[in-house]
Amino acid sequence: MEITVKHLTHIYQPNSPFERLALDDINVSIPFGKFITIIGHTGSGKSSFLQHLNGLLKPTKGEIIIGDHKIVADSKVKDLKSLRQRVGMVFQYPEHQLFEETVEKDIMFGPLNFGCTEDEARRRAREALEWVHLPESFLERSPFDLSGGQMRRVAIAGILAIRPEVLILDEPTAGLDPRGHREILDLFQWLNKEQGLTIIMVTHNMNDAALYSDEVMVMDKGRLVIKDRPEIVFSQRELLFDLGLDIPQTMHFLKRVSDKFGKDIVTPLFRLEETAHYVAQFLEKEKDGP
Ligand SMILES: Nc1ncnc2c1ncn2[C@@H]1O[C@H](COP(=O)(O)OP(=O)(O)OP(=O)(O)O)[C@@H](O)[C@H]1O
Ligand SMILES: [Mg+2]
Repeated sequence: MEITVKHLTHIYQPNSPFERLALDDINVSIPFGKFITIIGHTGSGKSSFLQHLNGLLKPTKGEIIIGDHKIVADSKVKDLKSLRQRVGMVFQYPEHQLFEETVEKDIMFGPLNFGCTEDEARRRAREALEWVHLPESFLERSPFDLSGGQMRRVAIAGILAIRPEVLILDEPTAGLDPRGHREILDLFQWLNKEQGLTIIMVTHNMNDAALYSDEVMVMDKGRLVIKDRPEIVFSQRELLFDLGLDIPQTMHFLKRVSDKFGKDIVTPLFRLEETAHYVAQFLEKEKDGP
C-alpha cells in the first residue's frame, strides 16, 4: 500500500485579498514502510502538505489516496475518523496539547476517543510509554510537572497509543537539547524499522534528513522540486543553495578537502566515522603520491 498524491494544489483564502497559493500541483507517491523527510525554506508549503495527509486541510485541486481512503476537492472526506486513526499527526510543540491531570489519562484519551475499552486504553498507555522510553511510574504524574523533552515524549505516546500506520511529524525536535534531539530521532527510526510505521517528517536539519531518511522531498514555493535518496539530493549543492537550503556538515567537510587537494571527492557520506575513515584513506593515498 502507499500514499499517492496527484496534482495537489492548495490555495488559502481563495478569492480574497489574502489569497495564497501554498501547494502547487504536487505529485508524489510514498510506499508504506518508508522514512521520508521533507525539507524546504520557510513558507515553502511543508506544513500545508502534511496537513492534507490526515484530512486537516482539503485540497483546492487534486487528490490524496491513502490505502482505501480518498481525499478530493469539493467533497467531504469519508471515514475521517478512521483516516485519522491510521495517519497520526504530531504537531510542532505537541506538549502544548497535553491537558489531562495524569500522564496515563492523557495517553488514554486518543484510544478512548477511537472506541477502545478502558482496559485496552490503559494497556496501550503502558505500552506507548515504554516505547517512548519513560518509566511506568510516570503514568501517575501530572504531565505539567515534567521536563520539556519528557512532555514531548508523553504527547508522542498519546499518538502512538492510537496505533497509527503512518506517523506525520512537523519539526518534532524543535527546541530539544542535543541528547533529547537524538533520542527522539532514534525513537522514530525504531518505530520505522521495528514497528513498520511509515514516517513522514518535516525538518530544518539537513544532517537529520541525510541520516534518517530513505528519501528526501525538497519543496520550494509550494512545489516539489525533487524527491530522491539522500545521497542524490545532497549531492546537488548548487540547487540546494539556490533554494536557500544547506547540505549536511560531512558534505561541507568533504568539499573543503577536495578543494584543498584540487581533486573531486564525489562520494556522498553523512556519518562522521565513515567520513573520517574515507578522508584518512584519501590522505594516505595523497602521501604516497600518484
Ligand atoms: N492559515 C493560513 N492562511 C493563509 N496563508 C497561509 C496559512 N497557513 C500558511 N499560509 C501560507 O502558505 C504558505 C505555506 O505555508 P506553510 O506553513 O505550509 O510553510 P512551511 O514550509 O511549513 O514553513 P515553515 O518552515 O516556516 O514552517 C506560506 O506562504 C504561508 O504564508
Ligand atoms: Mg511549517
